[in-house]
Amino acid sequence: LARGDLGADLAGRRVLVTAGGTREEIDPVRFLGNRSSGRQGYALAATAVARGAEVTLISVNVALPDPAGADVRRVGSAVELEEAVRAEYGKADAVVMAAAVADFRPARRASGKIKKRAGVGPDPIELVENPDILAGLTRDRAHPQQVIVGFAAETDHVLEHGRAKLARKGCDLLVVNQVGGGRAFGTEDNQAVVLGADGSATDIPYGPKDDLADRVWDLVADRLAAG
Ligand code: CTP
Ligand code: CA
Repeated sequence: LARGDLGADLAGRRVLVTAGGTREEIDPVRFLGNRSSGRQGYALAATAVARGAEVTLISVNVALPDPAGADVRRVGSAVELEEAVRAEYGKADAVVMAAAVADFRPARRASGKIKKRAGVGPDPIELVENPDILAGLTRDRAHPQQVIVGFAAETDHVLEHGRAKLARKGCDLLVVNQVGGGRAFGTEDNQAVVLGADGSATDIPYGPKDDLADRVWDLVADRLAAG
């Protein structure tokens, strides 16, 4: 199907998309972050709007123009993201967690800029674990038909790690990107396999992030229609 033929198959559906990467503050000027640009999540939001969905986009440190037609909320850290997702997911027919969430955050945020001191080495940064937002959502599904989608980037044993992660997170679909070789982070194009809790595996060829987004919505739309 060409994109124009998709019509409004998500009309009347509410979807929640997270995009970007969390920043965990160390002090007022420093953070622990990751390389997610937010492009894939923004492509998911834009394609969902094009297919007729009512889209809420939670944007996490993304330097891109707002996708037209989406309701955009901005947060910075994993804890803030969890709060925003928790506030929004109840009314969503589908939730797509495309944001890269830091697994750990500094146990303490220094109130002033941390200074280096002559002759004294740096203090270690103690980390604590962040909440697993996706696993929490699938545990507390708003309704049994809600379709919950996770994203994962893996460097090796992609299918094996993907299957294990899908089971661990309890999501309906897991979009697994192979990283390395110029793929995924900060690039225009993406390649992935989408694993389903029903045992399915759908290959998505190397191509623009909008195409990958449309293939993900195809799988979501199938499940919404079946639910
Ligand atoms: N995720 C989340 N909350 C976290 C970590 C991850 O909601 N604290 C979500 C991400 O948005 C993504 C999915 O879980 O949709 C998979 O993230 P990933 O980092 O691959 O999973 P982890 O369980 O953290 O596994 P790993 O040890 O490989 O980082
Ligand atoms: Ca992780």
